[in-house]
Amino acid sequence: MVSLTNIRKEIEHFANYSTTSVGVSRIAYSKLERDSHEYFSEYMTRLGLSVWRDSAGNTIAEYRTKNADGTPCLATGSHLDSVPKGGRFDGIVGVVAAMEIARVLSESQTQLSKPWRFIAFCAEEGARFGQACNGSRAIAGLTEAHHLDALVDETGISMSEAMRAIGLDPEQIAESKWNPDDCAGFLELHIEQGREIEAESLDLGIVNVISGSERFLVTVLGEPAHSGGTPMHLRRDSLLTAAKIIVSLDEYSRKPENEGVRITVGRLKTLPGSITTVPGWVEFSVDVRDFDSNRRSRISEEVTEIICDPGEENGTKVTFEQIGNTHAMALDQEIIDLIQAVANEHSIRTKVLPSGASHDCQIMEHVTSTGLIFVPSVGGHSHMPSEFSSFESIHAGVRLLFASLFRMDGISLSLRI
Ligand code: GLV
Ligand code: MN
Ligand code: MN
Repeated sequence: MVSLTNIRKEIEHFANYSTTSVGVSRIAYSKLERDSHEYFSEYMTRLGLSVWRDSAGNTIAEYRTKNADGTPCLATGSHLDSVPKGGRFDGIVGVVAAMEIARVLSESQTQLSKPWRFIAFCAEEGARFGQACNGSRAIAGLTEAHHLDALVDETGISMSEAMRAIGLDPEQIAESKWNPDDCAGFLELHIEQGREIEAESLDLGIVNVISGSERFLVTVLGEPAHSGGTPMHLRRDSLLTAAKIIVSLDEYSRKPENEGVRITVGRLKTLPGSITTVPGWVEFSVDVRDFDSNRRSRISEEVTEIICDPGEENGTKVTFEQIGNTHAMALDQEIIDLIQAVANEHSIRTKVLPSGASHDCQIMEHVTSTGLIFVPSVGGHSHMPSEFSSFESIHAGVRLLFASLFRMDGISLSLRI
């Protein structure tokens, strides 16, 4: 049986892999992310599963019984990295679900008609390099080795360098690609990171569409100058230009015709960063999210126009580059119906809803049919230390995931889950 105690213990254990004591900081392609993969790998190996690490750094464990030889696999999992000062549940819930399902299968020696793969994805968060879902992108064959040199973190380390530093070979990234014929479906369990399920006092959510995201890194070049000695009309203040762009982007996102678009400037650096110097250089990130793929090119074009034209000239120069691009994705309707039917049979009250956040299943949809189950987030808090989901709701989520995988496996449920 799926154990709430085990789920809680493992979620709490993963929270220890963090560089900060407030919130969880286990960023993509860091030593701590690797250590957490090692823990997952040892856990699955102890259960008797075949475990391997692919060239992107994803850890994959396979449970295979003899009836399943030669048939395409079912897969489930989520990610082990976090944003800086994030919460204990984002990604981890789906990884711990995979561990708990593997434990129940292994201890009961359940015979399945397909191999089941449990995946701990790496580098899902775009917080470090801009691009989201790097581990799943490699599985889907969407990343080539040269892309990894172009993505650079705020300290100037490229994704290739970060991968090499933890023993991965970025040149081999293409080897992680899966053949779609080898996979019969993928399901992910994740926290909602919003408050729709809680608002309706329901148990769980089933996702129908996942928002796309496009990210830019903007640089404004002005001129540093003495803050006392330089009159206002002689300044080339790069931060002033950045501020105008940021306000314009906010106003743009609130226009009625752009309903649903979310624009965020989450990181901003100024140089020389002195109280008494006019900032001569500013760099900031822009994260644009939208559910509507039809208006994607208009939004993208208009956002870049706003970035390039901050309004009144003050002698600064703006440049930008795209650092992330993920398409919105509609998930498989048959899988939504299947999860909904299983939930009804277990008296689990659900609603179908969109996801504003990115997820590995969005990318796995390029490989196979996928589904996403949401556990409610208390107060909608996420990407922050107060992120919380009750262990009872996570337990219900793991049971629904497990029962849905059984249904996809095509055999009747022979276990009490
Ligand atoms: C992933 O958590 C995202 O930023 O959407
Ligand atoms: Mn996240
Ligand atoms: Mn996540």
